[in-house]
Amino acid sequence: TTTIAVGMLGLGTVGSGVVMRLTQAARKIEQTQGLRLQLAAVAVHHLNAPRAVTLPIGTRLTDSIESVVTDPKIQLVIEVMGTLKTAEQAIVTALQHGKSVITANKDLIATAGDRLTTLAQRQHCDLFYEASVAGGIPILRTLTDSYATDQVTAVAGIINGTANYILSAMTAGKSYPQALAAAQRAGYAEADPTNDVGGLDTTYKLMILSQFAFGQQLTINQIAPQGITRLTAEQCQQAAQAGWQVKLLAQAQRFGDQLACRVAPVAVPQTTALSQVQGVQNGVAVTSQAIGNSLYTGPGAGSTATANSVLNDVIVAAQQLVRQTRGRAFNQNHANLAVTRLAA
Ligand code: HSE
Repeated sequence: TTTIAVGMLGLGTVGSGVVMRLTQAARKIEQTQGLRLQLAAVAVHHLNAPRAVTLPIGTRLTDSIESVVTDPKIQLVIEVMGTLKTAEQAIVTALQHGKSVITANKDLIATAGDRLTTLAQRQHCDLFYEASVAGGIPILRTLTDSYATDQVTAVAGIINGTANYILSAMTAGKSYPQALAAAQRAGYAEADPTNDVGGLDTTYKLMILSQFAFGQQLTINQIAPQGITRLTAEQCQQAAQAGWQVKLLAQAQRFGDQLACRVAPVAVPQTTALSQVQGVQNGVAVTSQAIGNSLYTGPGAGSTATANSVLNDVIVAAQQLVRQTRGRAFNQNHANLAVTRLAA
């Protein structure tokens, strides 16, 4: 068993889930992966804020992000702060210190993913962010691995759990404010839900999805998102009575060498599989040349499901570290370097 020291930035909804999943899965990770993931330090904004979880004995709690991302003992950093500016600087510093980084930060990856990936490659570190799109659904790894030789022609996704939860609740007769409050209580919404309901969160995720589906990095001003804030329960119910489900859809479709994208509420026929994606569930429909139509569904938000995606990335990065360390150890053991002092 190899022990990997992990540092984490943030201990909110996702961070608490990571602590719990780490504890629950420790034995399985040790048995199947030969890894012991030791949570060495967690950085938080307020040291005395109430916490949903108890940290493992030996985990250092600090309000200094710097002390975690520069700690020479920490080999891998999990960033789940949910902010933009501090997160970027923290990830840059971690990578500069040779640490692999796992993040759930879609805002950051959508807008700065390119330069962070370039930095990671230069530093021979991993930068993974499966949890940034569709929470618990392993959609990015699926697009990378399972579509490696295929060509994706279209993706259509319900990729904001909060918005889908609100639309489902409104279709069932709840008002918009009631539905939003319930999504917030369940821990699906962002601390500030503006981007959830305004379509920007969906846009960020579509930008990341497009990178994996089409190898094309979209920029934020190529999509003018339309959100769900102006929709009413009556509109959702009328659509349902006529055989449609209103969904906040992210769509990207290849036309020759062009990619057409949009983020908007769309009435989807109740006969389609995508219309069955209800509540906090997300669904990503992928159309490709070789496979045809596939639909990937699962929980799109929430503490445990999102944390599970984070943890899977941690394991892939940790295994990579183990391989690198073995290679270096071999080279040191076989260095066979003879040093002779030269005559003055
Ligand atoms: N607020 C996001 C959502 C969380 O509701 O989908 C997952 O990214």
